[in-house]
Amino acid sequence: MSSRLAGTALCRHLSHVPVPHLPALRPTASSALLHRCSAAQAQRAGLWPPSRFSPPRRASTLSDPAQDGGKDQKAGTAGKVPPGEGGAEQKAVVSYWGVPPSRVSKEDGSEWRWTCFRPWDTYQADLSIDLQKHHAPTTILDKLALYTVKALRWPTDIFFQRRYACRAMMLETVAAVPGMVGGVLLHLKSLRRFDHSGGWIKALLEEAENERMHLMTFMEVAQPRWYERALVVAVQGVFFNAYFVGYLLSPKFAHRVVGYLEEEAIHSYTEFLKDIDSGAIQDTPAPAIALDYWRLPQGSTLRDVVAVVRADEAHHRDVNHFASDVHYQGLELKTTPAPLGYH
Ligand SMILES: [Fe+2]
Ligand SMILES: [Fe+2]
Repeated sequence: MSSRLAGTALCRHLSHVPVPHLPALRPTASSALLHRCSAAQAQRAGLWPPSRFSPPRRASTLSDPAQDGGKDQKAGTAGKVPPGEGGAEQKAVVSYWGVPPSRVSKEDGSEWRWTCFRPWDTYQADLSIDLQKHHAPTTILDKLALYTVKALRWPTDIFFQRRYACRAMMLETVAAVPGMVGGVLLHLKSLRRFDHSGGWIKALLEEAENERMHLMTFMEVAQPRWYERALVVAVQGVFFNAYFVGYLLSPKFAHRVVGYLEEEAIHSYTEFLKDIDSGAIQDTPAPAIALDYWRLPQGSTLRDVVAVVRADEAHHRDVNHFASDVHYQGLELKTTPAPLGYH
């Protein structure tokens, strides 16, 4: 039986089986099933709570013209939606190929406003993590990794000095690279060897995504100037390729470098906090994106954001030193379960 037939059969089965209430916002087997069922089937099965999901095909090519006031709609075209809270008229692509727009509601029923992350990606940072931990280099390779990072800090200090918001924003454009490179290389290795990865692909991609969210957050605090954007392009071109080659040659060295980079990041964010506490940097209200991503309480400030970002960096430090240690023991990463969801 094909998966589509199986899905349809299951939908029919569910249509007369009481289905427990869906947990709020988290994608489950039930919510995945929704994508396989038609709206009508899902409604019969009680799986289509309009308070959590927007009507899937309103104004799409598959909608009933009578329901939509006979408006002529075409697939993949932009349809006008009612003015938003700001009063400005918005245009939204309502459907491509019959795929319903991905819209999610918050627990209070209001629409989830972020498309770059979803409620199930959010978390509360563990601020109790030890920020002082340092991996003492013992091998030549470790010392090379440490001195490489120290050498990279020197031009960074000169360029940014104590402009920490700008510094953080720029450094996050680099910090988000290693996890993606490592994840991609492990992914390809898994395919080549017909073998699993022990969860490390996901763990490294989680790190890359988390770092990118740091960038999205600091973009709300500081805007890069044209020459800073140019610098990012140049640095990314060099760093991506260098890390790619470095990871191919020695993953234990590559992870150790990132471990030390994260230690430096903790130091930078600690200095950032000192400047906020001293008044050198104004402690402005936290950006809305940060409130939702880290589930921060209303009234949180930039200081709270920097504190949770610093905690994230400490977790990245641990993950990368851990990965390097696994390699140092002559093992492959897949032999040790990855610390998934380690925040
Ligand atoms: Fe970061
Ligand atoms: Fe990090």
